Amino acid sequence: MKQLYFGVDYYPEHWERERWEVDAELMRQMGIQMVRMAEFSWHKLQPEENKFDFAWLDEAVALLGNYGIYTILGTPTAAPPAWLIHKHPEILPVDQQGRVRGFGGRHHDCQSNPVYRKYISKLVTKLAQHYGRNPWVIGWQPDNELGNSHQELCTCESCRRHFQDWLKKKYKTTEELNRAWGTAFWSQEYNEFTEVCAPRITVTGENPSAMLDWKRFCSDLIVDFTKQQTDIIRKFTENQFITHNYMGFADKVDYYKLGELLDFVSHDQYPGGFYLSETPHEKNYVLAAALDVVRSYKNQPFWIMEQQSGITGWEVMGRAPAPGQLTAWSLQSVARGADAIVFFRWRTCAMGTEQYWHGILPHSGNPGRRYEELKSMIQTMEPLMERLQGSMPRPQAGIVFSFEQAYAFQIQPHHEDLSYTGQIQKYYRALYQQNIPLDFVPEQGDFKKYKLLIAPLQYLMSPELEEKYMEYVRQGGHLLLTMRTGVKDVHNLCMTDRELPGRLGELAGIEVLEYDCLKGTHVKVQYQGQSLQADLWSDLMRILPETEILAEYDSEFYKGEPCITKHPYGEGVCYYVGTQPGEELMEALMTEICQKAGVKTVCSAQKDVECVVREKDGNRFLFVVNHSSEEKSYIVPEGYRLIRGEEAGKLKKYEVQILEG
Ligand code: GLA
Ligand code: ZN
Repeated sequence: MKQLYFGVDYYPEHWERERWEVDAELMRQMGIQMVRMAEFSWHKLQPEENKFDFAWLDEAVALLGNYGIYTILGTPTAAPPAWLIHKHPEILPVDQQGRVRGFGGRHHDCQSNPVYRKYISKLVTKLAQHYGRNPWVIGWQPDNELGNSHQELCTCESCRRHFQDWLKKKYKTTEELNRAWGTAFWSQEYNEFTEVCAPRITVTGENPSAMLDWKRFCSDLIVDFTKQQTDIIRKFTENQFITHNYMGFADKVDYYKLGELLDFVSHDQYPGGFYLSETPHEKNYVLAAALDVVRSYKNQPFWIMEQQSGITGWEVMGRAPAPGQLTAWSLQSVARGADAIVFFRWRTCAMGTEQYWHGILPHSGNPGRRYEELKSMIQTMEPLMERLQGSMPRPQAGIVFSFEQAYAFQIQPHHEDLSYTGQIQKYYRALYQQNIPLDFVPEQGDFKKYKLLIAPLQYLMSPELEEKYMEYVRQGGHLLLTMRTGVKDVHNLCMTDRELPGRLGELAGIEVLEYDCLKGTHVKVQYQGQSLQADLWSDLMRILPETEILAEYDSEFYKGEPCITKHPYGEGVCYYVGTQPGEELMEALMTEICQKAGVKTVCSAQKDVECVVREKDGNRFLFVVNHSSEEKSYIVPEGYRLIRGEEAGKLKKYEVQILEG
């Protein structure tokens, strides 16, 4: 495959034919080497049931090709056309209130619907046959942001039947299903699989075990929906990749599993957010975490398929990126493992929902500040991108991240402010602020690569995972466990055979006998002579003789009892954190733990300066990103020389320097 580094999302069908040539020339001048097209153009490609029209797309692909610009094709299955919905209204999704969602947005589809699947098969086969050997088409993106837009996913009759089949395959008998779901409670026993519903809104409460399986089913359905398309594309294409545009921590589909279908994953990065109230630089760690988790899904470099290129907004808008900020955000993506950046979108659209989700060009189509800025960014990066391809950060610390744990906490968050990804990001932030690189690690992943493993909220627990954690520490690993670990079995039933955290109590050297949900209040914690704040939860525990107490509660009826502990086990150490440390406590604690584990920062820098290293074949590339509108500095690590930027160690506002070492 040809190596390409910069692209744009392009919608030629929204503009007059005469404009295409102007666009292609402007792209070429800017250094754009590829476009993604057609991911919402179903009607243009198949205007009627028996009429396919690829001529316009052929022309666009060829015209861009004349300018040396390659194409990534989206399959348009996120936007089934009106004629199809009119003929087969059963394709429309049914929400948990039982309401049919109508035509007029996008993703108005049920992914299990066999009729819809048949139409997809026909269209995608035709597209793959037609473009599968076109030398200007380099790859494919099936659908768009799978899992997005289906807020409560579909609960139609077809989904209900598919759910029943999925359960039958998993449990074989209704006795097993009844046991796994604890249906003795509130008389929920099933005699037949056909009695099981897709979850509709209930009068009171839901069965947490049923809800967990429903979420697993929905994730599997999305993977299956995608596989239908990737199978077709693989069958008819040659030397073309398949990727998909992920959304960081979005969790409707297990991105690790989806990744198995793809050559590499892509991601949509919008630092301006969906018109969030915070200013972007207050959440740089969230942006960084999204990029790190995307890299971790396949543990390889990724692409950005949509990188912000202007103000974001549909009905209301976010801030205008300041001069230099689009560059800083783009290079933050590269720093954390992006091998290519595709900007969303080329030109701000004049019609439809996204009139204010701004592109590189304004509505007028005249190149302005954003065009010039990104053009010069591309010019400085073009010579470096080839050397960066395939290089990766090599973190010594990992955070365990699992979709199933996320699902279980969505079903029962315990505290209104507790979320699984929120908790993960709190630990992430403490290391991010010290420029300590991190990977995210699936529960099935290779723990041994890391000196330090942070495993928050390991709520659902299996004997295999218990053993894996114990073995990791036995062999010398430093492991951090937290509150709400070992609470449930994999069916989301509470475990009762020993005190919390189950067998991991042996590893952590503690037993949790009681707990307190800190509703509407906080707790004080004594740590290294200071009384600091913690939130949401307090585990009250008894410790084993060798367990060291690192922090104690400093308020409430459990004042003086252990809160954070450390226990030697085998060659390693297990930390247990019985609460959610507030920012100050978190920073101090993670500093201590990283030091003990020998996990180091890549570079010491002022606040709002992000430093990351990508490595390949013994070459190291240090990226230093100034996210602030002020000048900043950092200490140039020994052995590094500047290859992008002006004065090593001194950063102008939003400047990004790259050093090689
Ligand atoms: C997502 C989608 C795009 C577009 C942008 C902006 O990332 O993938 O199609 O809708 O958001 O809204
Ligand atoms: Zn459905």
